[in-house]
Amino acid sequence: MTDSYDEPDRRDMLDRTRQGVIGQPLDRPEGPLKVWGCAPYAAEYARDRCAEGVLVGATISAGRVTAIHRDAVLAMPGVLAVISSERMLRRPAQGTAGEAPEQDVSRVDYPMQPVALVVAETFEQATAAAKALRVDYDDRSGDAAFVPDEAQAEPADDPVEAGDLDAALSGADHVVDAEFTTAGHVSAAMEPHAAIAEWQGDDLTLWGSLQMLSFNRAELADSLGIDPDHVRILSPYVGGGFGSKLGISHEAVAAALAARELGRPVRVVMSRQQVFQSIMRRSETRQRIRLGAGSDGRLTALAHEAWVSNLPGEDFSEPVTQATEFLYAGENRLLSVMKSPVTRLTAGSVRAPGEAVGMQALEVAMDELAIATGLDPVELRRRNLPEALPGEGTPYSSRRLIEAMEAGAKAFGWDQRAPEPCARREGEWWIGMGMASAARVNILAKAEARVTLTADGHVVVETDHTDIGTGSYAVLGQVAAEMLGQPIDRVTVKLGDSSLPPGAGSGGSWGASSTGSAVFRACEAIRATLAQSLGCSGDDLVLQDGQASAEGVEARAVTELLSGDLTRTGRIEPGEQMEKVHQATYGAFFCEVAVNAFTGETRLRRMTGAFGFGRVLNAKTARSQCLGGMVWGIGSALTEALSFDDRDGHLVNHDLAEYHVPVARDIPPMEVILLEERDPHASPIQAKGVGELGICGAAGAIANAVHNACGVRLRDFPMTPDRLL
Ligand code: MOS
Repeated sequence: MTDSYDEPDRRDMLDRTRQGVIGQPLDRPEGPLKVWGCAPYAAEYARDRCAEGVLVGATISAGRVTAIHRDAVLAMPGVLAVISSERMLRRPAQGTAGEAPEQDVSRVDYPMQPVALVVAETFEQATAAAKALRVDYDDRSGDAAFVPDEAQAEPADDPVEAGDLDAALSGADHVVDAEFTTAGHVSAAMEPHAAIAEWQGDDLTLWGSLQMLSFNRAELADSLGIDPDHVRILSPYVGGGFGSKLGISHEAVAAALAARELGRPVRVVMSRQQVFQSIMRRSETRQRIRLGAGSDGRLTALAHEAWVSNLPGEDFSEPVTQATEFLYAGENRLLSVMKSPVTRLTAGSVRAPGEAVGMQALEVAMDELAIATGLDPVELRRRNLPEALPGEGTPYSSRRLIEAMEAGAKAFGWDQRAPEPCARREGEWWIGMGMASAARVNILAKAEARVTLTADGHVVVETDHTDIGTGSYAVLGQVAAEMLGQPIDRVTVKLGDSSLPPGAGSGGSWGASSTGSAVFRACEAIRATLAQSLGCSGDDLVLQDGQASAEGVEARAVTELLSGDLTRTGRIEPGEQMEKVHQATYGAFFCEVAVNAFTGETRLRRMTGAFGFGRVLNAKTARSQCLGGMVWGIGSALTEALSFDDRDGHLVNHDLAEYHVPVARDIPPMEVILLEERDPHASPIQAKGVGELGICGAAGAIANAVHNACGVRLRDFPMTPDRLL
């Protein structure tokens, strides 16, 4: 069986199987455990003699640690250790899933960077001692820049340049030239970062809250200076990640170091404030977008320039123009991202890095162009979908953007929209409608899974893949049930244990399609063996409700074909061929807002999203992903903004009381339309990613509705009342 996915082979396999569970809106099997409080999160495992660790953050903004006064704290009640080894101070390669960067280990790079761990018998004792710990610093804050310094900005990547942008802009019938800003964001997962570490001899077991276990295992081993074979990570249930748990963080390294030193288990739970201050942020952005179009609205020029920030020396930069590259036409183009150094918390992957904020601006600029050209926003977008990837000529795989716009417009009632702003008023509220496209890159990641068909006809799926609240348990079980023709209640899915075969991990929307494809491949191998026992070809084999049949062959119970448990491992990795088609997911948002004429308050009244992302593996969990994305879009549009103190780089609003994510009362009736789509180029199960699509453009639709309501064009996000008045 080939491992890479190059050819769209067996493209209709899951349409020919008969079990009928794939795509069904099945409940998540772990749902009841979550509701009953019986699905343990990282901090909730009971370990004998478990000590409690509390991290201490640097009180300076930049410089070095010169001394840690352990003795006074070690004399306090219950205190067992103060850990601040070099490895502890080293900043893990957050989110890069690679080796920790080489660095001067005593350096403080940003305010509240963890510099020590205080361990005590109880959490209260550890907290008191952590507060009392005195640390001496060589304070170099005076040399640091606490606002992004664009004069020092460097290109994050090679810019995309084609044609003659200036000539195209000066020759265009309609030009939009607009500047946007988006605020920094945090992931804001419900479960804070936490870890329990326990050693048995040279072997470490870590209960953690992580998204990508095989990478996390390598990172943790690297941070500890040991072989990954000696590390086992368990994360069977994860209370949200949104990028913040792609890589390991200090709590995991610190817990492991402390447990080794003390010879007993150690638990480290970050406070909400610590998660905000020391994990990662999405960079704020400044974006300039220039669009030039002919009188027919067709783009001839497209420029999207972005400025983002990160700590000096960090590789990551928010890929703001990622979707701009493939979404719209415009042969004369410039796409660039510049990264400015700043002394603030590390910037990393947060909820659809790139598109979440890039599409937010691009889709507002497109709305401005629609007004300039007098075209309906849907029609303008329809006219600007390129035949092939601009500049490259690469054909697109599935792209149901037009269908998404049409289905969304119809369901929403887009034809009721007045094109002119300020056309509808109800009491003190201006009412308006807006729309935007959704687009997000699609990735197939390397994955492995093991499937066992037991002698008594049960199915066990095993991989280290995680379920971060997304439905991995449900969809991986559905793929196996469908392929092996067993009712879903005969399938058990085991996840979140790094000793299992390495799945793709939950990140970048690739989890379900990639690890699902590995499960599919393992099931194909099992089917081949069953077909041989039955005396038919694998293609002719029909499996349904535990029965195996084929034309011209007598049907048998699957259990009769087995001489014992049958186990196969499936693997998938992207092939070179995949680069010959451009893959992305697409959709459209439509929404209605009310803007208060006196207070500037914006209330979303309803929202419709229509999305095409290949095969839907589970209509319920897919819908939930889309809803969640749209909710984050509401946050990005209206409320979410990290606020840093320009004098010292400290994060000011470091909890969920001050950093405002949308709450239940902010969410109106939301409708999600899932388009039928198959993408044979994306994966053997013809699925693409859906996890992040729902946020990519959502905030732009809301901004466009605000303009349609009250005539105010806001380009600075979030659109808080002070900015609207
Ligand atoms: Mo995602 S921001 O790749 O978890």
